[in-house]
Amino acid sequence: MRALLSKAPGGPETLELTESPDPVPAKGQVLVAVKACAINYPDVLIIEDKYQFKPQRPFAPGGEIAGVIEALGEGVTDWQVGDRAMGVIGHGGLATKIATEPQRLYRLPEDRSFAEGAALILTYATTIHALLDRGRLAEGQSLLVLGAAGGVGLAAIELGKAYGARVVAAVSSEEKAAAAKAAGADETILYGRAPFDKDQSKALAEQFKAAGGRGGFDVIYDPVGGDYAEPALRSIAWEGRYLVVGFPAGIPKLPLNLTLLKSCDVCGVFWGAFAARDPQANAAHVDTLFRLWREGRIAPRVTETFAFERGGDAIAKMAARGAIGKLVVEVG
Ligand SMILES: NC(=O)c1ccc[n+]([C@@H]2O[C@H](COP(=O)([O-])OP(=O)(O)OC[C@H]3O[C@@H](n4cnc5c(N)ncnc54)[C@H](OP(=O)(O)O)[C@@H]3O)[C@@H](O)[C@H]2O)c1
Repeated sequence: MRALLSKAPGGPETLELTESPDPVPAKGQVLVAVKACAINYPDVLIIEDKYQFKPQRPFAPGGEIAGVIEALGEGVTDWQVGDRAMGVIGHGGLATKIATEPQRLYRLPEDRSFAEGAALILTYATTIHALLDRGRLAEGQSLLVLGAAGGVGLAAIELGKAYGARVVAAVSSEEKAAAAKAAGADETILYGRAPFDKDQSKALAEQFKAAGGRGGFDVIYDPVGGDYAEPALRSIAWEGRYLVVGFPAGIPKLPLNLTLLKSCDVCGVFWGAFAARDPQANAAHVDTLFRLWREGRIAPRVTETFAFERGGDAIAKMAARGAIGKLVVEVG
């Protein structure tokens, strides 16, 4: 098989294209011939040893894939060779073959492409868990999404609309605002590039407050962090829920008096741990996502595909804040 391996901590330019024998599926595993691998921000972090999981090196990044079952390990009965599969595997997706547990895989519908299948689960399952379980989002409520044209950001717009919220999308460029609108955002906010001084931070808070209206935002979905977090929190509603999803702009500190003033909750979101701790609740969410996908109410937006050899470029583009929607590497 061919793989893009991380052999030492570093940026995407350190990934090495290698050839090695195909893995053999162990008892209970399946061998997947990978066709497509979607890139997510954790791929930026994992190769630099900045992610919460640190796989043993060498390893290939790439947390979600779609492909075809090529071989079955002992005892596997619910998959057949030739079945189309998609799923979240943590890492190892930037390789032409991967041996993995079938519990990580779902059936890829015949009418969907490998690229689309690879791009569905991680962002939408994170976001449905965030909005419903942590955010208690209800019909008619208002939702502010930061970094709204990114992977999880677009998912938050679509799911927010699917659950009847008024969605305000905050982004850093006109092109990203157009993508957020196309995904269904009711309104968009353009923000500047951090770092912000005190006055800029105050001005951004005013911008968020104006968009939130008199009541403020019932739910704020924050996959950005950094200097954007405090101005956003200042626009939250009484008893609102602030969802902490990720930190590409840095890990913020929040003045706790703001939570007292609004009687609001700051809620951590950790989808991987949730799915491991409560697989039944996660499976129910994934069933809902497949239904919404079938009904056309959600659809991963693959905006760019990369040849396998250029997998590192896809990760570099995301690290440079350049991705809109999903970037997918064509592996097989
Ligand atoms: N908690 C969980 O369970 C979970 C699950 C999946 C992902 N995540 C996290 O969610 C975050 C977003 O992931 P993603 O895959 O959606 O990434 P993404 O597509 O790159 O989106 C991140 C967005 O953050 C904004 N941003 C602000 N400052 C940035 C900077 N300095 N560098 C890069 N982006 C910056 C960008 O939007 P603007 O340019 O418009 O600001 C960008 O679109 C990551 O931190 C990821 O680790 C968390």
